[in-house]
Amino acid sequence: MGLLDGHRALVTGAASGIGRAIASRLLAEGSAVTLVDIDREALVAAAAEVGGAAVVADVGDGDRMGAAVEEAASAMGGLSLLVNNAGVGAVRPLHRYSDREYDRIVDASMRGTFNGIRAAAPVMVEAGRGVIVNVASVSGMRPTRGEAPYAAAKAAVIALTRSAALEYGPTLRVNCVSPGLIETPLTAPLLADAPRRAGFDRRTPLGRVGTAEEVAGVVAFLCSDLASYVTGVNLPVDGGSLLPSAQVEGVLSALLAQTD
Ligand SMILES: NC(=O)c1ccc[n+]([C@@H]2O[C@H](COP(=O)([O-])OP(=O)(O)OC[C@H]3O[C@@H](n4cnc5c(N)ncnc54)[C@H](O)[C@@H]3O)[C@@H](O)[C@H]2O)c1
Repeated sequence: MGLLDGHRALVTGAASGIGRAIASRLLAEGSAVTLVDIDREALVAAAAEVGGAAVVADVGDGDRMGAAVEEAASAMGGLSLLVNNAGVGAVRPLHRYSDREYDRIVDASMRGTFNGIRAAAPVMVEAGRGVIVNVASVSGMRPTRGEAPYAAAKAAVIALTRSAALEYGPTLRVNCVSPGLIETPLTAPLLADAPRRAGFDRRTPLGRVGTAEEVAGVVAFLCSDLASYVTGVNLPVDGGSLLPSAQVEGVLSALLAQTD
């Protein structure tokens, strides 16, 4: 028996990385799954590998996202789980982002999450049950230099989560996860440099970068009845990376060393 037997799920950004791991885990827990992604070729390959259905859509396009939700619900015989995972990032000084790059980032995360909730919530409310999990980021709580549109879009995903939890309770539960640094195609270029990776490991209380499967496990938990009294939360999945204080860490550790 799986944690999600009888559920019907739609996962966005499911052709790669965290979304693909979420689709795979929800299937393993007994849910039917429709994978949605903008990248047709990667999507078809991922769906064939994990075993779900595939629908190509840009989550930033409201009409297309609405049609994708309709198509998935009609093919699966309903919709009870939605995971808004699609997202893209970039790194450059705030004043160097073009309108196009800003739109690409905000459309995938913030508008995409809004579009997903707007399309799926009425279907779930009509059916009398449903769970939505959004994928935000630690950047939405503690931004890093160079990520302004991404950090703002992820902060908006956390806010949308709270709004939707208020508006759709008690019928629906709506939560989000905020991954820290997770090894996926998005972060592969960052992690390819061994000394840089060792620095990430050193600054993370759990001593390493996370895996897509570790995020997927938390998403499966939030989707399941194990979390039946949990709504409106933002759960970091970050190995404790939000804990260290960059401001005082060096100073206090010098004092701590003197107490030995
Ligand atoms: N990897 C990390 O360290 C990390 C950390 C925090 C948050 N996140 C978030 O997790 C989510 C997944 O990231 P990942 O690392 O697996 O990235 P990834 O690049 O491996 O996968 C993202 C997927 O989303 C799809 N996508 C992008 N824009 C889309 C759009 N407009 N419509 C539909 N699909 C779209 C891509 O085609 C891709 O398949 C993102 O929201 C990302 O911001 C990742």
